[in-house]
Amino acid sequence: MIKKTLDEKAFQLLKEKMEQGLFPQWVLTDPDIYELEIDKIFGHTWQFLAHETELKDSGSYVTRWMVNDPVLLVKNRKGEIKGYLNSCTHRGTQLCTADHGNKKNFTCPYHGWSYNLDGELIGIVAGNKVYGEEMDKSEWGLREIPQVASYQGMIFGCLDPVAMPLEEYLGDMKWYFDILLGRSDGGMEVRGLPQRWVAKANWKATAENFAADPYHVQTTHRSTVELGISPEDPLYAGYGHQIVTENGHGINVITSKTGKARVPYQGTPESMWPMFKKNLTPEQDEILSGVTVFVGGVYPNLSFVSPIHGTEGHLHNYLNFRMWRPIGPEKVEVWCWFLIDKAAPEEYKEAAYRGYLGSFGPTGTLEQDDTETWARIVEVSKGLMMRDKELNYNNVSNYLMGFDRVEPDESFPGPGIAYPTTYLDAISRSMHENWFKLISKDLFVKEAVK
Ligand code: FES
Ligand SMILES: [Fe+2]
Repeated sequence: MIKKTLDEKAFQLLKEKMEQGLFPQWVLTDPDIYELEIDKIFGHTWQFLAHETELKDSGSYVTRWMVNDPVLLVKNRKGEIKGYLNSCTHRGTQLCTADHGNKKNFTCPYHGWSYNLDGELIGIVAGNKVYGEEMDKSEWGLREIPQVASYQGMIFGCLDPVAMPLEEYLGDMKWYFDILLGRSDGGMEVRGLPQRWVAKANWKATAENFAADPYHVQTTHRSTVELGISPEDPLYAGYGHQIVTENGHGINVITSKTGKARVPYQGTPESMWPMFKKNLTPEQDEILSGVTVFVGGVYPNLSFVSPIHGTEGHLHNYLNFRMWRPIGPEKVEVWCWFLIDKAAPEEYKEAAYRGYLGSFGPTGTLEQDDTETWARIVEVSKGLMMRDKELNYNNVSNYLMGFDRVEPDESFPGPGIAYPTTYLDAISRSMHENWFKLISKDLFVKEAVK
């Protein structure tokens, strides 16, 4: 049902504006839109849960959230990864309250029912006496997350049992995941625990900032230029390609003015380069050997960045994945993982981890720069002029960079639609188009049937 404030007229207006590369600001933090998003976007798309190296042994578990749905992710005795709703089937309290650990079974803190690693109810306190012999425990197992699947070690869940399979959903992004996650023997591993904090921001703005907006780098992160870490050239984060793939996903392959990074293979130890070559196709190797930063996103709320950080002689590369869990139209809980090649030398891993902590996460300088702007977007979106749905005040945001002007580069070696600059709103527009397609699904059909 469309709410009163979100009538067909409002959707028509939205559609019209978006086709012109404009996005009305009231949409960003509107509470009715937010409710629709939770149901129609997060109820049907794949969301990131964990990396396989977080669940090493049988009995390993982590607890996660898919927006408001609590998830208990467990490795069972057969080595399979299972996802359950983290809620006891007796009175529904949260079953496992720890973030991670290893257990043979899970006992509910309320009345003591217990479940094994396959989610089966195996114990009821004073069971026979209070429920009688005839109670069939097999009817009271944990409820499984409808779909759980992984690609290159990345485990995702989906609440819609009939949604397209994960690999189909990722589409061409798999090819880029193969570079980011599959370049080394043994793949990548998570180091430390995922950091987690709450930021004042809307999930659309944070996801877009990472997936689609290298244009902000030279201003928001100006201090890196002043410190001599980044070049003076205001176009420096714009060299390279922005690639739009299916379903609102996208990646930026940032290089430099010369088309190549100042160091090969992102400053990784030279001893690792033959391994990268062996594990990648020539096209993937060509991209990895010349890239400075990969930054992108999997729609709706997973982002990633793989940079070169450090100073000459102490350069390192790592992979940061982050999930933006919406906890209201004006807040996100950020989950932030550090990943590194399992095959890298131990000393290098440690140096890269320290570099990451100085840049991203609550202790990171780049993170603090970004968080400030996200909070201020939310702050200014509350005014009457901003919330005017008729757009009398013309309060639309500009998504016109490259609109109808920048043509795809057919010579780019990777899949997707690749544009020859990353200062471009192509991924943003694709994210918004996908957003509109998902939230308006069935709405117009219902209207037409009436
Ligand atoms: S709510 Fe879990 S045992 Fe009662
Ligand atoms: Fe940033």
